Amino acid sequence: MIIDKKFQNSLINVTSRAALSSYFLIGKKDKIGADKAAVDTMRNELNKIEMNGKIVIGEGELDEAPMLYIGENVGTKNGPVLDIAVDPLEGTNYVANNLPGALSVIAIANKSNLLGAPETYMNKISANCSEPNVIDLDFSVKKNIYNLAECKNQKPENLTACILDRPRHKEIINELRKLNVKLKLISDGDVAGALMIVDDKYSVDIFLGIGGGPEGVLAAAALDAYNCHFQGRFIFNNDKEKDRAKKMGITDFDKKYELNEIISGDSIFCATGITSGDLVSGIEVNKNKFTSETLITHKSLDLKKIIKTEQII
Ligand code: FBP
Repeated sequence: MIIDKKFQNSLINVTSRAALSSYFLIGKKDKIGADKAAVDTMRNELNKIEMNGKIVIGEGELDEAPMLYIGENVGTKNGPVLDIAVDPLEGTNYVANNLPGALSVIAIANKSNLLGAPETYMNKISANCSEPNVIDLDFSVKKNIYNLAECKNQKPENLTACILDRPRHKEIINELRKLNVKLKLISDGDVAGALMIVDDKYSVDIFLGIGGGPEGVLAAAALDAYNCHFQGRFIFNNDKEKDRAKKMGITDFDKKYELNEIISGDSIFCATGITSGDLVSGIEVNKNKFTSETLITHKSLDLKKIIKTEQII
């Protein structure tokens, strides 16, 4: 079923307003406050939309997240039944420390078409290449790079790999250096990291490594509209995480998820900049108005666009 075009504007409004709420806390060294501001506003705005929405990726379980928790119903309860994934503030450190790259992010799909992901880590890989089976989580770093280089008719040393700069990635980073691949090491924000493969203008050929599972699902929603490759595999570190996953219907803890197992059918994705970053510019406030920039995709309409809006605060 096609998701009505009117949801594009509704969602741009949701992430723009959430971004604005966090904007006021840029550089205040208050990650939690900035996150809460975005969560409160996003929830408030979502509840104005004519839909029967259910949060499938949110701020955690009901016991630890009073708002936008997994399973929470949002919207007016009239309208289409939709699954919703949210990350009201992606890059809490970026806002707290006044650094580039903070986003407010949302994705919607028809009921049961968006994977409900637990709050665990996920091993991810994404790339933009025309052929299938070029990149794979089960290939070595070397094989992925050589395959991608061949697919893109490039030499490995001309490829750029984006990865979170974390000690857990030491081996991957060493391997990439041995292959003479250019690195783009990001300190946070791997939704944007995974999306930078969509267009040559970002100069990133492959994204890989371990980051948040929810962020992986959100990135997959946008990558689906770009027809790019993505795979993800959750990492469960203890029985508590496995129990939570079981409750969400996950039984195979080692499963490698293909893009179409994470999101299927029609979808809309929006990411609005809070602080300016690689993908979009941040919020600008001028007297009683604010401008925002949002990367929006709408799969069925083949929409992939950055939209700038000006609104009254
Ligand atoms: P927050 O906005 O919740 O702080 O997440 C930022 C982030 O960098 C994500 O983009 C990424 O998936 C995750 O944290 C990585 O987690 P960790 O910092 O534990 O490596």
